[in-house]
Amino acid sequence: MDNDGYRVAVVGATGQVGTLMLELLREREFPAAEIVAFASERSIGKQLEHGLRVQGLSDESIEGFDLALFSAGGSTSGEWAPRFVQAGATVIDNSSRWRMQADVPLVVSEVNPQALDSHRGIIANPNCSTMQMVVALAPLHDEAGIERLVVSTYQAVSGSGKRAVDELLDQSHSLLHEREIEPPGAYAHQIAFNALPHAGSFADGEDHTDEERKLINETRKILDDQSIAISATCVRVPVVNGHSEAVNVQTREQLSPERARELLAAAPGVIVLDDPSNALYPLAIDATGKDEVFVGRIRRDPGHERALDMWIVADNLRKGAATNAVQLAELLHERGLAGAKGAPSAA
Ligand SMILES: NC(=O)c1ccc[n+]([C@@H]2O[C@H](COP(=O)([O-])OP(=O)(O)OC[C@H]3O[C@@H](n4cnc5c(N)ncnc54)[C@H](OP(=O)(O)O)[C@@H]3O)[C@@H](O)[C@H]2O)c1
Repeated sequence: MDNDGYRVAVVGATGQVGTLMLELLREREFPAAEIVAFASERSIGKQLEHGLRVQGLSDESIEGFDLALFSAGGSTSGEWAPRFVQAGATVIDNSSRWRMQADVPLVVSEVNPQALDSHRGIIANPNCSTMQMVVALAPLHDEAGIERLVVSTYQAVSGSGKRAVDELLDQSHSLLHEREIEPPGAYAHQIAFNALPHAGSFADGEDHTDEERKLINETRKILDDQSIAISATCVRVPVVNGHSEAVNVQTREQLSPERARELLAAAPGVIVLDDPSNALYPLAIDATGKDEVFVGRIRRDPGHERALDMWIVADNLRKGAATNAVQLAELLHERGLAGAKGAPSAA
């Protein structure tokens, strides 16, 4: 960082998450002297807001950055994140490429900021469904110890990129006008007016999607507790933006719904909306555009004396991706941790 601020690269700047990261860096007045937008070769030269022009990734163009925020998919991160680190930057990566690597911290700003201290150049931003869930679960885990989670997600199509949003809108439009839909492209089946028990993809022979595995593995890594038993079903629903989750939380110690509500109301980044008799509970359309995680329907599980049920909602593009990435950049700045510290081992 020079006296004027950091040189920041945003890789994937034309995408949904990248566009929001650019917006948030400005909105939150991140001390950047210069922001440079990168995307694929298709977008080189494209004009973005605030006079930014998209650049292509090359050995020369990645020189001289303090920070690089990536949201351009796993293969771009796999290839270019280590090169940015070698060129002197600290990378905050939104893809799944580096998340489970032992020497890469997986960090949620409100939950485990201390994990940043050990970074070796790359810091991973968790998967969107995991992110919002752990923000709400960490205060309960600290108080009563989580033994087991049963999670069902209701995930918006924006979690699959711009193409999926277009596909939901196109299919809905066609069906409402009694026209045949194009063959599905973003998903295995029609998403409009449907629910797909298939968020993510099934590897050969796997009975869980990669999204379900991420929810399980990333939650344990962030909460630093491999003993938590987790069952996950990730469902894609025809919602444009905002992921919802029904979560059954079984704790080791007794935890009443009242105490859980109290802990959550005091937790950073959480807003409790819980008055069901007045139809007050978190909704995806209300969470959209907000940076907090919303929790409601907090109640005793009648089937288990040490379990609670709750409904957790957040904007998957904001807290689930861009907001947390920018919050991590702010924490790196506050702790004097931006700038390369080596590189994670190759994996
Ligand atoms: N959407 C979510 O809720 C969410 C949440 C957490 C994490 N993420 C992760 O964030 C990443 C982006 O998601 P998104 O929803 O923003 O996707 P998106 O809207 O499809 O945008 C993808 C971005 O990546 C760029 N890109 C693609 N290939 C590239 C390449 N070879 N080199 C450089 N840039 C390249 C694209 O540039 P062009 O415009 O030039 O193609 C675009 O800027 C993914 O890794 C995703 O898993 C997404």
